[in-house]
Formats: sequence, structure tokens, C-alpha cells
Amino acid sequence: MIRSVFKGSGSALPARAVSNDELARLVDTSDEWIRERTGISNRYLAGEGETTGTLATEAARAALADAGIAASEIDLIVLATATPDCTFPATATQVQAALGCTGGAAFDVAAVCTGFLYALATADSMLRTGLATCALVIGAETFSRILDWEDRTTCVLFGDGAGAFVLRAEDVPEDGPGVLATRLHADGSHRDLLYVDGGPSSTGTVGKLRMRGREVFRHAVTNLAEVLEEVLKASGFSAADIDWVVPHQANLRILDATARKLGLPAEKVVVTVDRHANTSAASVPLAFDVARRDGRIAAGDLVMLEAMGGGFTWGASLMRV
Ligand code: UT7
Repeated sequence: MIRSVFKGSGSALPARAVSNDELARLVDTSDEWIRERTGISNRYLAGEGETTGTLATEAARAALADAGIAASEIDLIVLATATPDCTFPATATQVQAALGCTGGAAFDVAAVCTGFLYALATADSMLRTGLATCALVIGAETFSRILDWEDRTTCVLFGDGAGAFVLRAEDVPEDGPGVLATRLHADGSHRDLLYVDGGPSSTGTVGKLRMRGREVFRHAVTNLAEVLEEVLKASGFSAADIDWVVPHQANLRILDATARKLGLPAEKVVVTVDRHANTSAASVPLAFDVARRDGRIAAGDLVMLEAMGGGFTWGASLMRV
């Protein structure tokens, strides 16, 4: 059967690391509050010359090198972001030009923190139906540029970064590698709990992120537990079969609560929220790349990817590496 097979991953972070103590000099907060409520100690913030596009390109180059695949083989780039460099053209086309592999399809998807799951599902569908043969799937964000740096309830939570996968359509046996099952959801009725108060067609401005964190938290735990059960059911695996869960990194307490609901031991959950904070669409591929490079995620492992974010959107995908 034709599946989208994982060939390599890469990631990129801005040069500047920012600690909780540094933020406490900017707004009325403390290292203790941020760590206790979120698990975050550090985040990376983009500086001059660093954009979603440059971070995405760096992550894509690292993923291609890891896969041992030349940029010229790539005929599809799907890039998830809510913070594109420009309203248009899509940041994916900038990455394509930087890599020198023009001609294939390249576009962005906007599903905020669930963006990487939406991008992965889109690329997977296109690879399995023959619309493309080799894809770069990227999550890249510079949320620091849409934060209200006077709002302590949001500005301490986010960071910038990018992560990328290379996927190739391959004929594999039933028990072989590849993306096995995915489920995506959205519920637009909760827009006011997490949104940006501007945009090209409404205010003509970029806007700032607004969030009612406590309500988002409640929905996240319920929605994630449900979609994880759905993907397990669709794939025929049980929670005990999973080697690693790579969740969207919003809050350590959400990761713990979701793992508990599924009966998964905390040791199987990849956590990077402590050092990267919430990097929105970048967080899943960034965390995955960290766990692959430090030797945790290995070939043959069954890995569950999951995310929930603005929209609301949420989704999960099970993949054999
Ligand atoms: O990635 C997309 C999905 N996003 C999420 O999943 C985020 C989900 N939500 C969360 O992670 C948590 O709800 C937060 C980390 C955002 C907030 O944690 P919480 O335990 O829900 O706190 P809270 O919003 O209920 O606020 C508790 C208190 C409030 O003070 P009062 O009203 O109890 O006096 C806040 O004003 O903490 C105060 N507070 C802060 N204090 C120090 C809020 N932000 C800060 C801060 N520093 N940065």
C-alpha cells in the first residue's frame, strides 16, 4: 500500500533565549508563577532578520539533510503558520525559492496551534493520491510579533521557532512505516476564547493575540482526549502500543492531564514546553525533532502527534517512524 513515510526531521530556533526572570522585568509576573502554572522556564524570540520564513527554511534544510534527500526531489511544501512573513505570497513559496526547488506545489495552511496536524494531513492525502511524491511539511511561527507585550496573561506563554518533516510516498507492507491514521476537527463557535484582534480584511492591521486561558485549557483537555481515542480506534492500536506521544506544547498541566486521561505514563510524553514555551504550529515538529535527535524516537516506533488551538481546531495523527 502507498503510505506517506517519514524520512527525516529538522528544526530551528531564534538566536535569543529569554528567561522568565527577563520577562518579569517587563510585566508584573514571576518565574515562580510561570513555572508553576505552565511548566515554562525559557523561550526563544526572533530578532532582527529572523522571520517565520527564515526559521522555516533553516528547519527545512535540516530535515532534508537528515533525510538524505535533495531539495530537487521536493514537489510539495505545506507550511503551517498563523504568523506568515506577508499576507501573501504564502511563506511556503519563499521557502521553496530559498531551497531552489521551484515548480511543485507550495502553500500555507492556517489552523493556528493545530496547523502542523492539518498540514501533515493535507500532505499525506496528496502523497497517497499521487498529487505529489515527496513533501516538506513545516510548522513555523513568530508569535512574538503578534503578542501584546503589556498583557501578562499571554505574553509569557509563547515563543518562536520552526520544525519540519520530509515525507515520501512509498509502497510499504501493512505493518511498515508511514502515517497510519489522522483525525481533524474544528469548532468555530469558540472564536472569542482565542483569536487575534486584527487582520487584512477587517482592521487592515496585524492585530494582537487575545486569549481566555482558563476556558481554552478546559476545552483542550476534553477535545484532545476525544481525538486521541478516535485515532486509536481508526488505527486499531491501543494506548499501550504507543511508544511516544508528541503533543502540542502549550502547558505542562495540559500534557499531564491528557496523558492521565488516556492512561499513558508521563515518561512516554515528549516535553519541550519548559525550554521552547508555546510555539504554536511549530511545537509538534520541534518537539519531535528534539526527541529524535536525542535518541528517544527511533525507527519502527509508533508515535502519536496531537494538538489543539485557536479556531478552535484540534487533531491527532498516528505514525510509524
Ligand atoms: O496553544 C493554544 C492553546 N492554548 C492553551 O492551551 C492555553 C491554555 N491555558 C493555560 O495554559 C492556562 O489557563 C494559563 C497558563 C493561560 C493560565 O493559568 P490558570 O491557572 O488558568 O490561571 P488563570 O488564568 O485562572 O489566572 C490565575 C491568576 C489570576 O489572578 P486572580 O484573578 O486569581 O487574582 C491572573 O490574573 O493568575 C494571574 N495571572 C498572572 N500572575 C502572574 C495571569 N497571568 C499571570 C502572570 N503572572 N503572567
